[in-house]
Amino acid sequence: MIKIAAIHGSPRKNQNSDTLMAAVIEGMGEKVQISHIYTALEDIRPCTACNACFKEGKCIIKDFMQEAYKILDEADIVITATPVFFHSVTAQLKAFIDRTQAVWASKYVIDNSVISRKRRLGFAVCTGGPPEEKSYFDCTLKVLDIFHKCINAKLAGSITAADVDRHQIKDREDILNQARQEGKKLIDMYKNK
Ligand SMILES: Cc1cc2nc3c(=O)[nH]c(=O)nc-3n(C[C@H](O)[C@H](O)[C@H](O)COP(=O)(O)O)c2cc1C
Repeated sequence: MIKIAAIHGSPRKNQNSDTLMAAVIEGMGEKVQISHIYTALEDIRPCTACNACFKEGKCIIKDFMQEAYKILDEADIVITATPVFFHSVTAQLKAFIDRTQAVWASKYVIDNSVISRKRRLGFAVCTGGPPEEKSYFDCTLKVLDIFHKCINAKLAGSITAADVDRHQIKDREDILNQARQEGKKLIDMYKNK
């Protein structure tokens, strides 16, 4: 069974970014095992830059992230969905991402990665409020790219949707279909790795 980690960045459950990610997952078919991480609903404290991970190769803050590291380690595919907030990811997702500094330290300082280096794929889902403007998603996708690299997941693709404040994703069959196709492509890519 292919294991999926679905990371939800929105503080609003089941809204636009969640719906778009759900369509990607639907397109992947039924033979996947999904672990959902709702960053806004979990106890995820921000990184304090204590640098304990530079010595211990793991984070010493005892909160939900201890479970999240295991979910990421086991995942074959990591999908991260976020609304764009000020051209970046949400604060809740940023706290999650910053805590993967411990993964970075385990690899590049300690040389003993807490997340296995097996081949893992990543996928990014981003939604934005106003109508599409070129470059609106650029910064957010850059953050998501480096995040997926950090957790040993090659970002295989992304889907972005603008104008969701006026036209909600749930009513946009065109973009939902595109997301389903991306999900199918992603699973095919994983199987043919
Ligand atoms: C604090 C805040 C900042 C936002 N900044 C941006 C932005 O920079 N660019 C953009 O396209 N949309 C921006 N938006 C709109 C959200 O991206 C949009 O409402 C969102 O994609 C909804 O996702 P959700 O329904 O999954 O929560 C912002 C919304 C909030 C609340």
